[in-house]
Amino acid sequence: MSKTKTIFFCQNCGNQSPKWVGKCPVCNEWNTYAEEIIDKQEEKLKEKRGYAVKKNETVKPVPITQVQELEMQRIDTLDTELNRVLGGGIVLGSLVLIGGEPGIGKSTLMLQLALQLKGKKVLYVTGEESDRQIKLRAERIGINNELCFLLTETNTQQIFKQAEELAPDVLVIDSIQTLHTVYVESTPGSVSQVRECTAELMRFAKESAIPVFLIGHITKDGMIAGPKVLEHIVDTVLQFEGDRNYTYRILRTTKNRFGSTSEMGIYEMVGEGLRSVLNPSEILITQRDENLSGIAIAAMVEGMRPFLVETQALVTPAFYGTPQRSSTGFDVRRMNMLLAVLEKRAGFRFGTKDVFLNIAGGLRVEDPAIDLGVMAALCSSYNDIAIPSKYAFAAEVGLSGEVRAVSRVEQRIAEADKLGFEKIYISKFNQKIDAKRFNLEVVYISRVQQLMEELFG
Ligand code: TYD
Ligand code: MG
Repeated sequence: MSKTKTIFFCQNCGNQSPKWVGKCPVCNEWNTYAEEIIDKQEEKLKEKRGYAVKKNETVKPVPITQVQELEMQRIDTLDTELNRVLGGGIVLGSLVLIGGEPGIGKSTLMLQLALQLKGKKVLYVTGEESDRQIKLRAERIGINNELCFLLTETNTQQIFKQAEELAPDVLVIDSIQTLHTVYVESTPGSVSQVRECTAELMRFAKESAIPVFLIGHITKDGMIAGPKVLEHIVDTVLQFEGDRNYTYRILRTTKNRFGSTSEMGIYEMVGEGLRSVLNPSEILITQRDENLSGIAIAAMVEGMRPFLVETQALVTPAFYGTPQRSSTGFDVRRMNMLLAVLEKRAGFRFGTKDVFLNIAGGLRVEDPAIDLGVMAALCSSYNDIAIPSKYAFAAEVGLSGEVRAVSRVEQRIAEADKLGFEKIYISKFNQKIDAKRFNLEVVYISRVQQLMEELFG
């Protein structure tokens, strides 16, 4: 009898099955099962593992009142954006996953962190590049730090051994897909390897209190390669995203056991690495002399930070069969809904038009408060009448054309005020604010028709 055993894993959600199946019964994806070898003697080996299994101690239940309070210790990263998305610094013993498409700047971000942390020992483990390549990148970034150590290694047990000897303050792994553990036989990057290595790193982080950053690649459809399972194991998941054609990069928290998940950091990729962008509004709004049709400024909020973004629309007659609907940075289904509302409630005829929508700066916005701005841009292009560049919008639009209140409206108004805007359109139901303390005029509207009359007469 052979000693190896194989199992089929869903590459999407990590579900396992003894035989191949076409459609995953858990995540309903098709054709995602792949065969992986797992060791038959695994069970026996488990007993010998160091960080691979928890030490054989019996733990008794304790009343919650007797659990000692743990003062959360954090390491300041000296990077305002990274501090913000982590919830105020790196928590000791935490495992942080940084996901992003290849070439987006994950390695740069982590190396920069390693170089910046003056007085703290950082071990940067790389399985992707040679130490010379890393050195080249460090030269580009232009910071020198003798406490930043490089290790080219992919075997987890070796990494733990070196980490124990060096006792760094922070451990960086670039990337999880290159790691392999001796306890699982399948190839690096496979679901079982990725899962086991992450679990080992988690135990290492918890037992040694050394925070670990884990870089993970993302598949085409935006998932952290390997399984979703990984996201369940780690404490914090940061997504590094951005359009390759723009220099802006956004670091978003999608899970955080030690802070809010709605935080966001903005960087710009320049010749010397990544630079924090402290005032996003100013770069997200393009400078223009004349008023152009199809542009409206919306006041959005990400996490705790308000900022203004430019929504751009182009509405042209459709010459070929089905009209085109295309949107970048904004959900295309939501755009279709807004078009339908305009069609039904305000008498616009978009049925014979091609519609293109774009959020400037390569940003992807999920805040519903930009609905009104999107609508204003669409109608401005439809009518070919420009909206004055000093007008801003902040409201959600409902299916019957009602303009709905949004959260943090005062912060949005304050941001527009700060940037010298003259007028902001918000929902009538956001009445409770004290508009007198702002220099700009606050206009309350309740229905989209009302806005169209105000803007285009
Ligand atoms: P990298 O960190 O290697 O991406 P990842 O690890 O996510 O795959 O970043 C690669 C890109 O960043 C590359 O196209 C070059 C660019 N870059 C700069 O523009 N400036 C710099 O200072 C550095 C180091 C990289
Ligand atoms: Mg890299």
